Amino acid sequence: MGADPAHWDDIYRERSDAELSWSRDDSGLSLELLGRLAPPPASVLDVGGGRSGLAAALTAGGWTDVTVLDLSAVALETAGLPASVATISADVTTCLPDRRFGAWHDRAVLHFLLSPEDRRAYARTAAAAVEPGGVAVIGTFGPDGPERCSGLEVRRSSAAEVAALLSDDFDLLEAHDEVHHTPWGDPQRFVWAVLRRR
Ligand SMILES: C[S@@+](CC[C@H](N)C(=O)[O-])C[C@H]1O[C@@H](n2cnc3c(N)ncnc32)[C@H](O)[C@@H]1O
Repeated sequence: MGADPAHWDDIYRERSDAELSWSRDDSGLSLELLGRLAPPPASVLDVGGGRSGLAAALTAGGWTDVTVLDLSAVALETAGLPASVATISADVTTCLPDRRFGAWHDRAVLHFLLSPEDRRAYARTAAAAVEPGGVAVIGTFGPDGPERCSGLEVRRSSAAEVAALLSDDFDLLEAHDEVHHTPWGDPQRFVWAVLRRR
């Protein structure tokens, strides 16, 4: 089943950042991993970037070729993105990128893809979007993570499962565990898989 843009548009229209469970104060681990493995001038595609501050933080950090892709046009319109950041309003499972990037970043999107078909489509889009030698930095709810988010069922994964999903085109470089705290203090266990495109 395809994702519903209206569901996400409503959330971004109705909730402040402080009411979004996934909001974080800084782009911490994402910036650390991208800074180490895809520093400027690498291009970055932030998949399901929503209204996060990552694109602005990357721009401030010297990345000049940053694109945010999201299903929700409302998220992209209200994100307050720097003028240099490109946007793509699309579903990651059905879009065909017309160019390649040095890095693919996804925090908290893959776990919304439940069916094997949608997850395989995600892997195909990632393979098409990342140039050989580029990286994919993927943060998703871990095996002990939440069972639902934003009123939707999620599929939790280990880093090894993420690596297996992408194994036709990517090799696993690193895996990390992270505990995110929602703005109201609840812990959420994430895993991060960092992969290199062959
Ligand atoms: C939990 S939020 C995470 C937002 C952002 N990555 C962050 O860390 O703040 C999930 C985001 O993924 C987007 N999204 C959900 N399904 C998607 C899909 N199939 N394709 C593209 N974006 C999607 C939503 O609109 C939302 O912005």
